[in-house]
Amino acid sequence: LGCFTHDPGFVATASCSSKITFIDGDSGVLLYRGYPIEQLAESCEFTEVAYLLMNGELPNQSQLQDFNLEINDRAIIHESLRKFFDGFHYDAHPMAMLVGVVGSLSAFYHSDLNIKDPVSRKVCATRLIGKMPTIAAASYRHSVGRPFVYPRIELSYCENFLNMMFSRSSQNYIDQDHYIDQDFVKALNLLFILHADHEQNASTSTVRLAASTGANPYACIAAGIAALWGPAHGGANEAVLNMLAEIGTVENVPKYIAKAKDPEDPFRLMGFGHRVYKNFDPRATIIRKTCHEILKKTQSSDPLFELALAVEEQALKDDYFIERKLYPNVDFYSGIIYKALNIPVEMFTVMFAIARTAGWVAHWMEMMEDASTPISRPRQLYVGPTRRDFQPIDER
Ligand code: CMC
Repeated sequence: LGCFTHDPGFVATASCSSKITFIDGDSGVLLYRGYPIEQLAESCEFTEVAYLLMNGELPNQSQLQDFNLEINDRAIIHESLRKFFDGFHYDAHPMAMLVGVVGSLSAFYHSDLNIKDPVSRKVCATRLIGKMPTIAAASYRHSVGRPFVYPRIELSYCENFLNMMFSRSSQNYIDQDHYIDQDFVKALNLLFILHADHEQNASTSTVRLAASTGANPYACIAAGIAALWGPAHGGANEAVLNMLAEIGTVENVPKYIAKAKDPEDPFRLMGFGHRVYKNFDPRATIIRKTCHEILKKTQSSDPLFELALAVEEQALKDDYFIERKLYPNVDFYSGIIYKALNIPVEMFTVMFAIARTAGWVAHWMEMMEDASTPISRPRQLYVGPTRRDFQPIDER
């Protein structure tokens, strides 16, 4: 190994120092800028938390008002960018559209982008937070062949997103007077807060790694979106719903738990386990309650929820899961809530990306403020062939 430490998966390597988020995985503690996630989830709106992550302090009333106006003002996307969606096949995955369209923002704003200027950096950050729900909703409307809905300046962040997604197409959300169900707005707000940041997770680390080269923020966030897409990360909530569909009935649960325990079987219980939380995921505790409330309100008799509870109950008393400290994580419940809000399954990771943008831009800004940050350039443990001589093609 020479002078290198071999740490695949960064299990014991701190890649940076940060003032944004603190996690104590053993005690189930999650703090954003020192504030417990439980308190923020109880009292804040998502943009207030985004402001906190970006600026280090909670906003006062007038700061929040200005920030919300700025976000809403930047929510609109360029008409040419809107045409990008026409180029995607109707059944393109919304994450595929999100990666491409967010990356292409650099083609719209690159010329005036100066990442060394703190004011430019804040403008980029709010542009990204503002535009993300618009791009996300546009990708959904494209996939179902419905016309694009423009963001509205008078709506809150979550109201705007729901309106752009479902306007005139779902009585559950918006009636003819454009009334938006405030319980659904509240649930979405909560999910966005819980997903807003999670220190050096794979996508945030990807954003930081890309940013360490001086790449522009739109390209860096697109890289983060790509990393988020995987089922071991942001794709987990989609994977949970697909898994529940595969399990099918409560009677099948023991069979699938046995599969998850079998080292020869690649099947894993999606929504279980976490790299950092080894006792419980505090976000899962908060979200579990909301999950019950929303299902009660919608009077959802969806058998998937009953099935999810059976999986949770049976896994939690199984020695395999107890010994390995595998508990339901936030994504075990978030997918079920999204489903109750009528968000289609293929949009679940997109929802995660909207929320995590607040964390990504906060980390990007923190990194840019520290001029001494070196390019991230990990070393490797070479295990390939030793030196050998080239052979001409007719002698091989
Ligand atoms: N089902 C069955 N066995 C599991 C699971 C699972 N979901 N997760 C871990 N294990 C087993 C694993 O096989 C290993 O067993 P053994 O010691 O016998 O080899 C042991 O538990 C330790 O697993 P690990 O893979 O070393 O743990 P990790 O910290 O590297 O992985 C994880 C964390 C989240 C990738 C993993 O638990 C997993 O794949 N979970 C399912 C996917 C999921 O829910 N992901 C969302 C994470 S939360 C959202 C986010 O923050 O991005």
